[in-house]
Amino acid sequence: MSSLLTQVAQRLGRAQRVAVLTGAGMSAESGVPTFRDAQTGFWSRFKPEDLATPEAFARQPEVVWNWYAWRRELVGKAEPNPGHRALVDLATRVPALQVVTQNVDGLHQRAGLARVIELHGNLMRTICSRCGRTVETWTAEASPPRCLTCNGWLRPDVVWFGESLPHDALTQAVEIVGAAEVALVVGTSGLVEPAASLPRLALARGAFVVEINLTPTPLTPQASAFLAGPAGEVLPDLVTRLA
Ligand code: OAD
Repeated sequence: MSSLLTQVAQRLGRAQRVAVLTGAGMSAESGVPTFRDAQTGFWSRFKPEDLATPEAFARQPEVVWNWYAWRRELVGKAEPNPGHRALVDLATRVPALQVVTQNVDGLHQRAGLARVIELHGNLMRTICSRCGRTVETWTAEASPPRCLTCNGWLRPDVVWFGESLPHDALTQAVEIVGAAEVALVVGTSGLVEPAASLPRLALARGAFVVEINLTPTPLTPQASAFLAGPAGEVLPDLVTRLA
């Protein structure tokens, strides 16, 4: 493991363009639950079709709003972990490092990364489900609260199952990952498209793809290197080994 880490660090040290694709495992050590981990993942306790689809919101808006309000509070109390901070450090050393995240918690930005491509939106932003405006304030009289402009229900600015990803974010992600010499794929099960296809795009373009995860995933057999372990330990270790 130690020589593999050194080898990956050498690759990183030589690379001009590095893409980092992150998933829920990135924030696990900040106390934000993942989705699919047995016992602790959100989807082991809740059904996504009851909470994370437009149909669920239409059927039971109050339940959906309250679930996201609870998650917003949880994320508000969480702090970036050593993995998030290691990526900030790495960004100062690699000329063109870009982070593409599936996470909606904003922890990369709170750790100090200026530019993050958010594929699945951001839980801390709220929009109107009718007029689409971003809304900063609302009265807490109703769940969900109403938009002051059009009276539509407010909702979190996240991508639900069955919805399209933000067009610009996806276009940028494809460009960044497609041009990367080294791609780090951190803490994602790789089961949700289209994000799951990004590491394969990097591989097809000849990138050195490094997977960092607690357990193997469908990507692991194809990855150029698999670093087993928690992101909050592996990433700082990797950055320390940069020449
Ligand atoms: P998952 O919950 O599917 O996968 C989390 C991955 O992180 C698993 O492979 C774990 O083994 C790994 N993991 C857990 N803790 C870790 C740690 N400390 N260090 C490294 N790896 C760790 O989460 P995602 O792949 O992000 O969609 O899920 C993708 C999407 O599915 C999410 O963005 C969300 C969800 O439904 C939307 O919200 C639209």
